[in-house]
Amino acid sequence: MLSDADILSLLMGRRANHSLPQAFYTDADVFDADMRNIWHKEWMFALPAVDISKSGNYATLQIGAYSIIVVRGADGVVRAFHNSCRHRGSRICAAAKGSSPKLVCPYHQWTYELDGKLLWAREMGPDFKPQDHGLKIVHCADVSGMIFICLADHAPDITELKEQAARYMGPHDLGNLKVAHQSSIIEKGNWKLVLENNRECYHCSGSHPSLCRTFSDDPNLVGADPSESSNEGLAHVDRCEQAGLPAKFVIDPSEQWRFVRIPFLGDAVSYTMDGKAAVSKRIGTVPFENAGSCLFFHYPNTWNHFLSDQALVFRVLPIGPMETEVTTFWLVHKDAEEGRDYDLKRLTEVWEHTNDEDRQIIEENQRGILSPAYEPGPYSVKQESGVIQFVDWYARTLEQALVGRFRVAAE
Ligand code: FES
Ligand SMILES: [Fe+2]
Repeated sequence: MLSDADILSLLMGRRANHSLPQAFYTDADVFDADMRNIWHKEWMFALPAVDISKSGNYATLQIGAYSIIVVRGADGVVRAFHNSCRHRGSRICAAAKGSSPKLVCPYHQWTYELDGKLLWAREMGPDFKPQDHGLKIVHCADVSGMIFICLADHAPDITELKEQAARYMGPHDLGNLKVAHQSSIIEKGNWKLVLENNRECYHCSGSHPSLCRTFSDDPNLVGADPSESSNEGLAHVDRCEQAGLPAKFVIDPSEQWRFVRIPFLGDAVSYTMDGKAAVSKRIGTVPFENAGSCLFFHYPNTWNHFLSDQALVFRVLPIGPMETEVTTFWLVHKDAEEGRDYDLKRLTEVWEHTNDEDRQIIEENQRGILSPAYEPGPYSVKQESGVIQFVDWYARTLEQALVGRFRVAAE
């Protein structure tokens, strides 16, 4: 059993620029601390707004013990609620996705409006006040077409994120895209291994033959420090910025999120086997086809690639200490027709391969860490600056939350 004090002392004793002690990747108490202090406190990505494009469309998500409904109202606004009936607590929506004009609890048919108000409850007596029994609200924000939710009582401020998202993602116009394909895979690894793996391309040449046809594994392009960006990267940023397309590396002061636009290799314009566009209809107002990839991550649970012909949106959700769900959404222009404007296999194959390759890497990483012989190893400062940046963000965030708890307890 690890107490919060034990976890705090492990965090404080960790070696800088090294992978984390074993417990952070395997232990149920650390997982619980991650859920309580990060996943139940920070904003996290739920789904692309266009995935629930019509009034009554809803999706459910499981985040630790919490079940959440995200639903588009009759007024077009997307809202999030706790998926727990205000009568005796039944889950209201069981399906991962669906559509309904009202939210009806399956147990005794209490019926809620799409904005969460209780509309109907049979024979509850004259003193019953429906207005006191609306669905419990979860913070919900539309960040340029990506719906974020937050389970905290007081959600952190995301004004700055929204502003930067409008600049960087606005030209890709996510509101006028559609989900061409969605895939969820279960990776038998801790969620931090999934994030760490995403934040470096040290492994790319050895594992991702399809991705490496178009995606550079140059650590200066994808790493943490903008001042170390390659000449090629800087030239691409200049070219985009001159055309009015925001491209410069921008990172939030707490380092929770970042935007940057990077070039593809050679003449490539998209993540396809031949580097040519996967979709003939360009999206948004991106001024040229070879705009590269606008990279956006937001910890703890999303990384994204916004291109000229598609948007690739990734969502990570922890299931257990050594189990994580990774969902990929492929978004294309809403008027693009499969078979005419794009071929689904061509659109999805590079990232279907890449995701599966990453799954195998992460599962082997997890198995090796489970060995009693595991000890934290050094990150390559040159190749793994992004991993160091993520792990430092994680350690700092958890440490602050734990210290905060002790402070409150002491007062
Ligand atoms: S628990 Fe939902 S109507 Fe009874
Ligand atoms: Fe990878």
